[in-house]
Amino acid sequence: MRFFIDTADVEEIRDAHAMGMVDGVTTNPTLIARSGRPFEEVITEICGIVDGPVSAEAVSLDAAGMIAEGRELSGLHPNIVVKIPMTTDGLKAVGVLSSEGIATNVTLVFTSMQALMAAKAGATYVSPFVGRMDDLSADGMEVVEQIVSIYNNYGFQTEVIVASIRNPLHVLESALIGADIATIPFTVIRNLASHPLTDKGIEAFLADWDKRRK
Ligand code: G3P
Repeated sequence: MRFFIDTADVEEIRDAHAMGMVDGVTTNPTLIARSGRPFEEVITEICGIVDGPVSAEAVSLDAAGMIAEGRELSGLHPNIVVKIPMTTDGLKAVGVLSSEGIATNVTLVFTSMQALMAAKAGATYVSPFVGRMDDLSADGMEVVEQIVSIYNNYGFQTEVIVASIRNPLHVLESALIGADIATIPFTVIRNLASHPLTDKGIEAFLADWDKRRK
């Protein structure tokens, strides 16, 4: 299972990368705006840190605009994946970009049927937003399970990136379902690594070690 980090904060990316937990990066316009840095500058810096797919989102609403943005973004670095919103225009853009060999990540996916359409359009990745589904009392992980089954039924090559992850259970369930990738916020990566009994154990070992030296 691959771990992507869902952030545009390069310090978080460097930290998680040093742990060996970053196989790729996803960003979105909100995360880029939060970084307070120019889009192309931050995306290029991220590509210099991580040797893996880096998703950068197109902000046009029409297919022609998304295609133009996608071509431009993919020219920034070979690892760029163009994130395209799941709309009818988005599907058209994915078809054109994928025919040109440009990797795409269809984002803002909330149903398995949207994911099926993204795969049929030729998307490299699809991103179901599990946290936002859970926020509306829908079961986000159930949708991921459906997508993985449907893709397996028909042998689609599109990979599933579980996105909008809010807690370690989302990652656990993604792994149990066999989703290809989870894109995880930095705080959740840290939470996955920690356990109070680990901290308590270290504390006890060090206390005993100190007593031995006295
Ligand atoms: O990768 C998509 C993700 O950034 C959305 O997360 O927490 O804003 O729903 P969230």
